[in-house]
Amino acid sequence: MKTLFVCLGNICRSPLGEGIILDLAKKHGVPVTADSAGTASYHIGERPDRRSVSVAHKFGIDIREQRSRQFTAADFDAFDIIFAMDESNLQNINSLASGGGHRAKVVLLREFDQEAHGDLNVPDPYYGGADGFRDVFLMIQRSCLAFLRQENLV
Ligand code: 4NP
Repeated sequence: MKTLFVCLGNICRSPLGEGIILDLAKKHGVPVTADSAGTASYHIGERPDRRSVSVAHKFGIDIREQRSRQFTAADFDAFDIIFAMDESNLQNINSLASGGGHRAKVVLLREFDQEAHGDLNVPDPYYGGADGFRDVFLMIQRSCLAFLRQENLV
């Protein structure tokens, strides 16, 4: 199962998605690969935001080696599933799809979050504080675990 997490800058939310699903896959011994990308080009080549690095570290996950890259149309055929962090990211992703027929299924990550209560966006934590990063971490973690359960991988 090849997964891709996509947000806007690929420095706050999607690096957490990549780190969290790889951590779950390792703990459960299941064959999942992960990558992440941003729809924007602002942060290409940068490390994850220090607040994402910090919250991941608190949960025992090291995301420091990741580097931001931009989402491209080639990703539609390189992955089995593409998780968009919010509806704006989903629109940006879908705008790059040239018709149908690609391999990846494209979904909102929080479709899997049983505590989403109708709000399927992982909010952008960039302009907020550490609490926002913790909330985002927990949303992504719940969603990834529920996804792996739905796939009967854990
Ligand atoms: P991300 O957060 O999409 O979760 O990586 C953001 C990072 C940077 C910006 C916006 C969101 N920015 O405007 O630079």
